[in-house]
Amino acid sequence: MEIKKNEEYIVDIVDNGFEGEGIAKINNFTIFVKGAIKGEKVKILILKVNSSYAFAKILEIITPSKDRCNEDCKSYKRCGGCDLRHIKYDTTLEIKRNMVQSLVNKTLSTQLRVNDTIGMEKPFNYRNKAQYPVGLNKEGVPIFGVFANRTHEIIPTKNCKIQTKISEDIAQYILDFINQNNIKVYDEKSNKGVFRHIIVKVGMKTDEVMCIFVVNEEKIENEKELVSGLVEKFQNIKTIVKNINNKNTNVILGDKNFILYGNGYIEDRLGNFIFKISPMSFYQINPIQTEKLYNLAIQKAELTGKENVFDLYCGIGTIGIFASKYAKQVYGIEIVPQAIEDAKENAKINNIENAEFMVGDVEFALDELIERRKIIPDVVFLDPPRKGLDNTTIKNLLKVKPKKIVYISCNPATLVRDLKILEATYKIKDITPVDMFPWTKHVECCSVLSLEDSIQ
Ligand SMILES: C[S@@+](CC[C@H](N)C(=O)[O-])C[C@H]1O[C@@H](n2cnc3c(N)ncnc32)[C@H](O)[C@@H]1O
Repeated sequence: MEIKKNEEYIVDIVDNGFEGEGIAKINNFTIFVKGAIKGEKVKILILKVNSSYAFAKILEIITPSKDRCNEDCKSYKRCGGCDLRHIKYDTTLEIKRNMVQSLVNKTLSTQLRVNDTIGMEKPFNYRNKAQYPVGLNKEGVPIFGVFANRTHEIIPTKNCKIQTKISEDIAQYILDFINQNNIKVYDEKSNKGVFRHIIVKVGMKTDEVMCIFVVNEEKIENEKELVSGLVEKFQNIKTIVKNINNKNTNVILGDKNFILYGNGYIEDRLGNFIFKISPMSFYQINPIQTEKLYNLAIQKAELTGKENVFDLYCGIGTIGIFASKYAKQVYGIEIVPQAIEDAKENAKINNIENAEFMVGDVEFALDELIERRKIIPDVVFLDPPRKGLDNTTIKNLLKVKPKKIVYISCNPATLVRDLKILEATYKIKDITPVDMFPWTKHVECCSVLSLEDSIQ
């Protein structure tokens, strides 16, 4: 039977895919059904047909899954933020585990049961960073919100359940100011206008707030009034920064920052440590889960206090600083200079004397550390961006063969791709998904590789 666009079918959902979507089969032809859950019977409409699969939408849920729940968010259907709001939270954790398991089964020779996903007790308002695009709606009225799924159309947000209330309140205040002062908002097509993004970072433990205006040009009409009004209304604002981004790009932040109020940074606490966070520095967005992730990573590394530890892709030095208590010496490498400034300052604030942080691209800086300074790591923490490790870094790791590698990743696909190469030398002992991004399709993993346990 040939599957045709615009035709209706009644199907059983046999699985959930990598993006949490339902999967149905018609004569072995795969149909991805957004919003459907494994075990459901649904009436679908085919939207697009490719050579070996098709996409469909639900017309009617004939037999709902027991795991279906109330979405309780008006923007959910169009918003690009959450993907799994129609599924009970515990089931989303299982779906994420299964997703990682299926990648492991497909890619690795190692047979391993992926551990259960570590979830949140209260999986709401967990994000410590909001990045709201600012633009015009169809009527030409300035709005802030989130980009609709796979587009640059802005959907206004109200009472987002994964963001903090203060981020939304601050963004609303700025939007009102933009309207009252006739400040132009950015238009991607013409590359004209002023306000592009409003970013709010919140120290969840300290309640300190940073506000970043991402603008296309330096001059903001009545900037002083905007800053003083914000500071007066929101007493937790510790700093306000203006970031200039005049490039026609999807990258949110430009290179130039002007501090408009405060010191240009906020502080937050993770575990027993204080961390300084700057506008350009990466800081994990879910601090409750980050503590669990770091504690797990440190525990799995089985440090004894005698080890040289490398913290590669170290950001503001968080993992290295957590590990420093149990290691002889920590060396962190990170490409963003401001993050390394923060990391050095963080080591100081926390009285850590056995951690050294350096700016560099891991692809080159790792070898330099090994060859020039002759430092051989016993344990390596890896926490690369979504694209995973480059071949040179893998080659350099295999050259020095640290006895343990703890590989943290926010992209299971590149994680297993890299583990596939490493498993020729290392035993993959453990993979644990951690739910850093509840209700979204994303999942963080902590994997542990051991040389001692491998058959070399
Ligand atoms: C997923 S974050 C992890 C940061 C930190 N480990 C943490 O937990 O907060 C990845 C970090 O790698 C940095 N990065 C990206 N590419 C890099 C490279 N080639 N060399 C060094 N650092 C890099 C990013 O700036 C970012 O801070």
